[in-house]
Amino acid sequence: MENSRTTHWEQVYSEKADTELSWHQEDPIVSLELFDLAGATSQSSVIDVGGGTSCLSTRLMERGLRDVTVLDLSGAALASAQRRLGPIGESINWVVADITSWEPARHYDIWHDRAAFHFLDDADDRAAYVDRLSRGLRPGGHAVIASFATNGPKKCSGLPVMRYDPETLANTLGGAFAPVAFRSHVHFTPWGSAQSFQYGLFQKHR
Ligand SMILES: C[S@@+](CC[C@H](N)C(=O)[O-])C[C@H]1O[C@@H](n2cnc3c(N)ncnc32)[C@H](O)[C@@H]1O
Repeated sequence: MENSRTTHWEQVYSEKADTELSWHQEDPIVSLELFDLAGATSQSSVIDVGGGTSCLSTRLMERGLRDVTVLDLSGAALASAQRRLGPIGESINWVVADITSWEPARHYDIWHDRAAFHFLDDADDRAAYVDRLSRGLRPGGHAVIASFATNGPKKCSGLPVMRYDPETLANTLGGAFAPVAFRSHVHFTPWGSAQSFQYGLFQKHR
């Protein structure tokens, strides 16, 4: 499973420009709003899980954060993001890994995931994800998780996805994470199609 996932994503990022990716977003406005709500500062440590070529890391660097990790299955995606960032990207920790088998070696203040968690349609994979989230986030740390909403598309990048509302998102993460805020957001693909997203901000119990 891990290998077929990797093959899919390596192919996507090798063949397509950012503006050909449905999820491409110049301004990760809701993510940054929820970072603010979480009390993020320039001292915060952040991991963007399934970050791909997202502009989030650029925006975080612009805000003065210096402890930023971007994890993704696709080395091609991370190489492309690194090229775009230039010298400023050298201080980012780029990690090629499958989140369901990655072993966190440290704690982060903020865990961010936009449209990666929703691909986990197997209960064991979701449990493995939540285990990594529990071990990777410091006590009292925050997680921003964004998935397709229940009225969003059934597929993303041609793959089936799980769609969440606030209740199912909170239940899937489990009792160790207290819901702080939810946001509904309509994302427009680079070619103008609307996609409903569900964002949740959670705090890990201390
Ligand atoms: C729809 S894209 C979203 C990318 C980015 N978060 C954004 O908002 O632009 C999903 C990303 O998750 C990554 N991904 C999918 N499954 C993953 C997994 N099991 N572990 C790590 N990354 C994964 C893909 O390689 C891809 O970059």
